[in-house]
Amino acid sequence: MKPVAIKDNVFWVGAVDWNSRDFHGYSLSPMGTTYNAYLLKDTKTTLFDTVKHTSKPEFLCRLSQALDGDLTKIDYIVVNHLEPDHAGCLPELVERAKPEKIFTSPMGKRAMDAHFHQTDWPVEVVKTGDSISLGENTVRFIETRMLHWPDSMVSYIPEKKLAICNDIFGQNIASSARFADEANRAVLEHAMREYYANIVNPYSAVTLKTLDALAGMNLDIDMIAPDHGLIFRGDDVAYAMNSYRAFAEQKPTAKAVIAYDTMWHSTEKMAEAIGQGLEDAGIDVQIMWTKANHHSRIQTELHNAGALIVGSPTHNNGILPGVAALLTYVKGLRPLNKVGAAFGSFGWSGESVKCISEHLESMGVELVEGVKCKHVPDHEALGQCYDLGQAVAAALKAKL
Ligand code: FEO
Repeated sequence: MKPVAIKDNVFWVGAVDWNSRDFHGYSLSPMGTTYNAYLLKDTKTTLFDTVKHTSKPEFLCRLSQALDGDLTKIDYIVVNHLEPDHAGCLPELVERAKPEKIFTSPMGKRAMDAHFHQTDWPVEVVKTGDSISLGENTVRFIETRMLHWPDSMVSYIPEKKLAICNDIFGQNIASSARFADEANRAVLEHAMREYYANIVNPYSAVTLKTLDALAGMNLDIDMIAPDHGLIFRGDDVAYAMNSYRAFAEQKPTAKAVIAYDTMWHSTEKMAEAIGQGLEDAGIDVQIMWTKANHHSRIQTELHNAGALIVGSPTHNNGILPGVAALLTYVKGLRPLNKVGAAFGSFGWSGESVKCISEHLESMGVELVEGVKCKHVPDHEALGQCYDLGQAVAAALKAKL
């Protein structure tokens, strides 16, 4: 549990949470995550963020080693974001380090008051464009409101060419590696997309504006240090920026996600026939049973897909709960540029296709008319499903 030097006098002092498996509904299985915090030693030694309270012993151990056992060497604490996975150890640290100042954004101050209810902390509010001197180094603050909380901000240290970015560019990877260039690239890319799709996606318009604003500031950055996962250095800085721009644009690709639940396999058979229709039209297909795939995994696959086709049998005049949960989760993440359709079997009343179609429409999916089938699909019904796959493929190709 040693601190890791990431630059001269800059140390990673975070924690690896190998066992975390849920982040308010986003499955972290199988990799867990890290909570990154950074220490810069200067005339004013400064800590950037803390970690989740469950990782406090590991964090304090690492931090203490970086400070020769004396937490009171911390002069300043910068709180880039108040969510408890980064500010969870703030009260104890303030108590033990007795910092001269705590810097946070205007919305950060409000969140800090509402979380911790402390009136005697030495808080100083900083806004975009403000900077503070630490001695040889300065910290320039850039608010990134709604990326992904109102309080979020980036701390840029020009002398180090270092941007400490909080959740932006994060990935949920628990690893002994600290840098992106030490990791398997496919694993990294998947983790970046997964994080974006499940956390940042609703704020895609803000992401694009922020990337433009950062580019307009002509910041000299050779290291991006997020508060989760691996650190980007060298050429990976441009890689991270370009990846984020592509994620935020949400351009559709020739890929379809078919998500369904089934009672007695009729809706499942329909899913397979729809998938065949899409495949025969040249569309890459992911068929995902909601009981076998966590909703955040389906959301990750959906992120770069151009089509979402959702199926459920009719159950108590509605849809199965796993499909309802998926639709609620995906709608909250505001997917863009999708075509789609609904399908499902039924015994007597048959509301599921209408119900799913309404959900999809409410999230802005461009709908192709769905297919429903009484009890078990016969050859004709499966043909209708195949045709639905072909029709969705045609609608999708029109958008590419
Ligand atoms: Fe990693 Fe918004 O907390």
